[in-house]
Amino acid sequence: MKYKKHLFVCTNERTDGRKSCGHEHGMLLVDELKKRISADKLNAEVRAQKAGCFDICPFGPALVVYPEGVFYKNVEVSNIAEIYESHIKNNTIVERLKIEF
Ligand code: FES
Repeated sequence: MKYKKHLFVCTNERTDGRKSCGHEHGMLLVDELKKRISADKLNAEVRAQKAGCFDICPFGPALVVYPEGVFYKNVEVSNIAEIYESHIKNNTIVERLKIEF
């Protein structure tokens, strides 16, 4: 794998009035993750980027972390510090924010 952790954040913006992550601060989540990755100089190992709809819109804003394939739900900007420190840097999944399929 190119990256140790690869994060995708849904930033989809619907036009039909249904809930969508892009309208609920999805892009702020991407920016917050990128800021932390850069501050820690982890750009070669960790990548965060925007993504289209994951088809789990009621759980949004949503992000997924690979290689684990862990989806996080209802992610607030205030949750990013915990996800980043716990999961991205220390490989400990934040269970209370994880979606169980
Ligand atoms: S709009 Fe984000 S999962 Fe569908």
